[in-house]
Amino acid sequence: MSKEDNLNQNWKKDFPIEKQQATNVSRRDFAKFLTLVSGGLMVGSGVVAAKAYLMPKEEVAGEHFVCKKDEVPSGGTRGFVIEGSTVPYILIHLETGEFKAYEQKCTHLSCSVFYKPGTGIIHCPCHEGSFDAKTGDVIAGPPPRALPNLDVFFKDNDIYVKAAEKVEYHS
Ligand code: FES
Repeated sequence: MSKEDNLNQNWKKDFPIEKQQATNVSRRDFAKFLTLVSGGLMVGSGVVAAKAYLMPKEEVAGEHFVCKKDEVPSGGTRGFVIEGSTVPYILIHLETGEFKAYEQKCTHLSCSVFYKPGTGIIHCPCHEGSFDAKTGDVIAGPPPRALPNLDVFFKDNDIYVKAAEKVEYHS
C-alpha cells in the first residue's frame, strides 16, 4: 500500500461519521437550538428594559458651546455630544430663524432622527415616526413621547445649550 493510500484510509478512521449523517440535524437538536436562541433574546431584552428603568438618565449640567451661529444655515442642522456624555443631540436652525436642540434618539426604539428641511418636521426612518421640530412633540407614528430637548441660547455669535428649564404648571 502506498503512503498516499495509507493516509486516505487513516483519515476515515479519524472521522467515522458518514457524510449523510454529518448533515442531519435531529429535531431534538433543533428544538434545543431554538430554546437557547429565544431564551437568549428574552434575557437580552430583559437586561435592556431593566437598564432603562433602573439606571438614572444622564443629567446635563452647566452650559455647553455647540458652534457659531453662521456655521448652521437656515434649514440646516449640526449633530453634537456634550463632553463627558454619549447622548447624541441635534441642533436645528429652523426656517423661522429659531434654533432648537433635541436628543437625536427616537423615543420609540432609539433610532437616529433627522430634520427634513423646509417641513418643520423631525423624522424617524425606522417606523415612520414624526416630531414637531418647534416643540419636539410627536406628530405621527409609534413614538410614545416627545423628544427630550435642551435650551438654546447665544453669547454674541456663539450658540450654547443647557438643560431645559422645567415648566411648572399650577392649577
Ligand atoms: S424607532 Fe423611531 S419610530 Fe420606531
